[in-house]
Amino acid sequence: MINIIGTATYLPEKVLTNDDLQKMVQTSDEWIVERTGIRERRIASQDVYASDLGAEAAKRALKDAGVEASRIDLLIVATMSPDMLCPSTACVIQQKIEAWNAAAFDLSAACSGFLYALDVAKKFLESGEYKTALVIGTEKLSSLVNWKDRTTCILFGDGAGAAVLKKGEKGHSILGIWLGADGRGTDLLKIPAGGSMLPASRETVDKDQHCIQMDGREVYKRAIDVMCRISQESLQKSGLKKEDIQLFVPHQANKRIIDSVAKRLSFPEEKVFLNVDRYGNTSAASIILALDDAKREGRLHKGDHVLIAVFGAGFTWGGAVLKW
Ligand SMILES: CC(C)(COP(=O)(O)OP(=O)(O)OC[C@H]1O[C@@H](n2cnc3c(N)ncnc32)[C@H](O)[C@@H]1OP(=O)(O)O)[C@@H](O)C(=O)NCCC(=O)NCCS
Repeated sequence: MINIIGTATYLPEKVLTNDDLQKMVQTSDEWIVERTGIRERRIASQDVYASDLGAEAAKRALKDAGVEASRIDLLIVATMSPDMLCPSTACVIQQKIEAWNAAAFDLSAACSGFLYALDVAKKFLESGEYKTALVIGTEKLSSLVNWKDRTTCILFGDGAGAAVLKKGEKGHSILGIWLGADGRGTDLLKIPAGGSMLPASRETVDKDQHCIQMDGREVYKRAIDVMCRISQESLQKSGLKKEDIQLFVPHQANKRIIDSVAKRLSFPEEKVFLNVDRYGNTSAASIILALDDAKREGRLHKGDHVLIAVFGAGFTWGGAVLKW
């Protein structure tokens, strides 16, 4: 069995409230809370990058696990806001935490990134060739947000989380992870420029094409359908019933999406974890921020079954069941 033996998070100190946003675009605290459940989000300062947030979360997770950085032989970073296109943020973090014995790479699956990375690490460890993995979800989405677009800038925030994984007896077991994708959704949520299709130019900057663009309504509908389906599939494949689940940890994008999914799955409010009000959507960091917060808030007890459901750009999705 592959186990999570340590977790931690790191959030920038600066808080951007809905009232602050009201001074930047035409919106209101009331509208944002009613439509999204988000009250505030964290914003990293200009000279702090996704690698800094990730490195700090990683150091804390290693401490929580009681593992030296030199013992890590696999380092995966899930992010859609890498420091640079090349080299990987994983290599930058490797340097910052001095994990010199690790193979390191980034994984791109947007908001599903942490779960994708967790599954890849699980399979590397199951092979027996790798012993200890560090999985990081880190985002500085504030650098990709169009701060003039009220339909998107209210949604996202910065933050990072990390987990240390090992094969063995100790820790929180990953009973299963099930992933999926549908590339027909690529146009509905994207950052069009900065890659080989639209390299940076004056025009791409003028048209805000380096920022997140989204068809919010369509993404909203798909997110609910897919998260319900992957949750049911995960329960079925793990041989559990919804009554066996003590905590449902969905991707934290929008409280209305979470409420609809929970309602369709008949999970009562007290079984659903929510922190989107404090951090907004932190994409690849969202699930590990939620898990670690749930742990620190005493919402997870030894032996609890945790159901995770994620959805992101691509589209990508995933479900997982952990035994805490
Ligand atoms: C973005 C989102 C919050 C918009 O909420 P919505 O209820 O769908 O709102 P609509 O897009 O229908 O817009 C309703 C009205 O509010 C306006 N509006 C949009 N953003 C606004 C804001 N921040 N403040 C005030 N009004 C706003 C729209 O312009 C529209 O006005 P109109 O009727 O005059 O055209 C919602 O679609 C959403 O959360 N989508 C999923 C986003 C997501 O989670 N993405 C990541 C997935 S991993």
